[in-house]
Amino acid sequence: MNKLVGKHVVIAALAAFAGFAVSAQAADVVGNAKAGRGKVAMCIGCHGIPGYRTAFPEVYRVPILGGQNQQYLENALHAYKKGDRHFDTMHAITASLSDQDIADIAAYYAAQTPTSKDNPDK
Ligand code: HEC
Repeated sequence: MNKLVGKHVVIAALAAFAGFAVSAQAADVVGNAKAGRGKVAMCIGCHGIPGYRTAFPEVYRVPILGGQNQQYLENALHAYKKGDRHFDTMHAITASLSDQDIADIAAYYAAQTPTSKDNPDK
């Protein structure tokens, strides 16, 4: 019995440590808009076209990302990646992004304004 309790304490300690390690790592990720600029090539096909609507599998609007709140964008990308927010293409795309990629891309889009040279329409 004692042995069993001891095991549980060790497992709890490990779990707590792992949780700490994960949150410490997340806090270290700082978005870099310049780096993000090089990572949005695969987003522009859908998000870069003003008023763009896809026709398959159903008609839907593609949201504008430029000028969005950075934290909002990060949260949305993590949610798609984890599957908390469902959208097949966005899940497929975010699955390949690291935490750093997501932070950089969010910083890049958050820095966009209607008069940005790169993407005037985003
Ligand atoms: C195949 C088209 C397509 C591509 C490519 C694509 N997206 Fe999306 N994205 C969408 C659609 C459609 C939605 C809206 C989905 C929904 O309703 O949840 C969306 C939603 C989002 C949202 C949530 C916006 C909001 O207002 O809540 C973010 C953030 C986003 N995409 C970022 C990206 C990034 C970053 C990339 C590139 C790494 C990318 N997307 C590539 C089609 C695309």
